[in-house]
Amino acid sequence: MALATNATLIRAIGRPLRRFAPILSVAGIVVVTRYDDVREVLERDEDFTIAEINSAPMDRINGPFILSMDRSTHYSRERSILQSCVQPQDPARIRSTVRAVTAELLARRPRGRLDVVQDLARPAALRLAGDYFGLPGPDPVTMMRWTRALFREAFLNSGGDRDARRAALHAAAEFHAYADELIARRLAMLSTGTPAPDDFLTRLIRLRDDPRTRLSPEGIRRTLGGVVVGAIEPTSKVTAQAVERLLRHGCALRRARDAALDGDTDLVRRYALEAQRFNPLTAAVVRHTARDTVLAAGTPRQRRIPAGRKVYAALLPAMFDPAAFPDPGSLRGDRPASRYLSDGHGLHRCFGRYVNDVQVTELIAALLRLDGLRPAPGRPGRIRYDGPFPDRLLVEFGQGRAA
Ligand code: HEM
Repeated sequence: MALATNATLIRAIGRPLRRFAPILSVAGIVVVTRYDDVREVLERDEDFTIAEINSAPMDRINGPFILSMDRSTHYSRERSILQSCVQPQDPARIRSTVRAVTAELLARRPRGRLDVVQDLARPAALRLAGDYFGLPGPDPVTMMRWTRALFREAFLNSGGDRDARRAALHAAAEFHAYADELIARRLAMLSTGTPAPDDFLTRLIRLRDDPRTRLSPEGIRRTLGGVVVGAIEPTSKVTAQAVERLLRHGCALRRARDAALDGDTDLVRRYALEAQRFNPLTAAVVRHTARDTVLAAGTPRQRRIPAGRKVYAALLPAMFDPAAFPDPGSLRGDRPASRYLSDGHGLHRCFGRYVNDVQVTELIAALLRLDGLRPAPGRPGRIRYDGPFPDRLLVEFGQGRAA
C-alpha cells in the first residue's frame, strides 16, 4: 500500500521522528512533525509559501485559485469573494439537503449492506455540489471522473505520473467546456431577470454588480471549479476513513452511536473530528522555503532551513504529539475542536469548514443510526483505495448477514 494512504505506518514513523528528529532535513526536503512546529510553518506564510508548490499543477487544470496563491491583495480579494457568497443560513440549508439526500440514498439499500464510498459519500457530496454550489455536472459518473482526476493532478501528482496527468488534462478540457456553457446560461438568465436558483454560482454572478468583486466568466469558472473540485473527493475520503476508524473502536463507536440516536449532533461531530485525526484527508501539507530562516527558534530543536527547501508540515504526526493531544492513541469525544489540524491551519485553512462540519457529521450520523452498523467481513470491510482515494468500504447493518 502506498505510504500516503497508510495512516498506521505514518503514525508509527511519526513517533520516533517527533522524538529524535522533529525537524528532519534530508535530500533537500524538511519534514516537521511536532504540533507547535507544524503550526509555526503554516502561520509563517511569507517564509513558507505555497505558490511554488501548487501554482503549476493548478494552472494546468484550473487556472489561478486561492490555494495556489501566497498572501497578497489578489489572494485577499479572491478569498473575500468566496466568503461573500456564504450566508448565515447556509449551514442549516446544507444540513437539510444532506439529511434528505442521505435518507434517499440509504432507502435504496434495504438489504443490510452498503458501500460507504459509492452508495453514500460520493453521491451525497455530488448532490450538494449541484444543489448548493450550482455545479451538478452532466451526470454523476462523469462528474466523479472529472473531480477525481482534477484533484489528483492539482494536489497529489508531484511525481508527475503521466497517466494521471493525461487523464486530468482530458477531464479539464471537458469540465471547462461544460462549466463555461453553464455559466453563460446562468449569466443570460440573470441578465434578463429570469428567476435563478439561489446557489453559489448565482451569488458569484451577482457580485459582478460591484466593480471590486467583479469576476469575468473565466474567473467564475476557475473560482467555482476550484471550490467544487476541492469539495467532493475530500468529503468522500474523510467520511470513509472516519467511519472505518470508528468501527474499530468499540467504545467510541457505542458512544458516537448513542449520540447519533439522541440527536446530539455536536458530539457526533466531535467523534468525527477525532476519527479524522487518526487518518486525515492528507498526512502533510507542503510549503516552499522562500528565504533562509530558522524554525523553532529558541528551543533545543531549532533548525536553520535554507531557502528553496520543500517543507512537509506533517499534520497527522502532529495530531499524535502528546504535548497537544494527551494519550493520543485513545479516540475520545472531549478534545477541544480548535486543536485539530485535519483541515489545515493558518492562511490557507480550509474554506469549506462550514460545509464539512455539517456534511461529514450528517453522513456519519446517518450511518451510525443504522441498526448494528458493522464492517462487512473480510477485506471488503476495509477501505480499498484507487491511488489516494477510497473507492470502496462495505458495511453491514440490521439482523444477520446481508444477502
Ligand atoms: C472534510 C473535507 C475536507 C477536508 C479534510 C479539507 C481539508 C483542507 C485542507 C487541509 C486545506 C489546506 C491545504 C493547505 O494548507 O495546503 C484546505 C483548503 C481549502 N479547502 Fe478544504 N477540505 C475539505 C472540504 C472542502 C470543501 C467542502 C470545500 C468547499 C466548500 C473546500 C474548500 C477549500 C478551499 C477553497 C481551500 C483553500 C483555502 C485557502 O487557500 O485559503 N474544502 N482544505
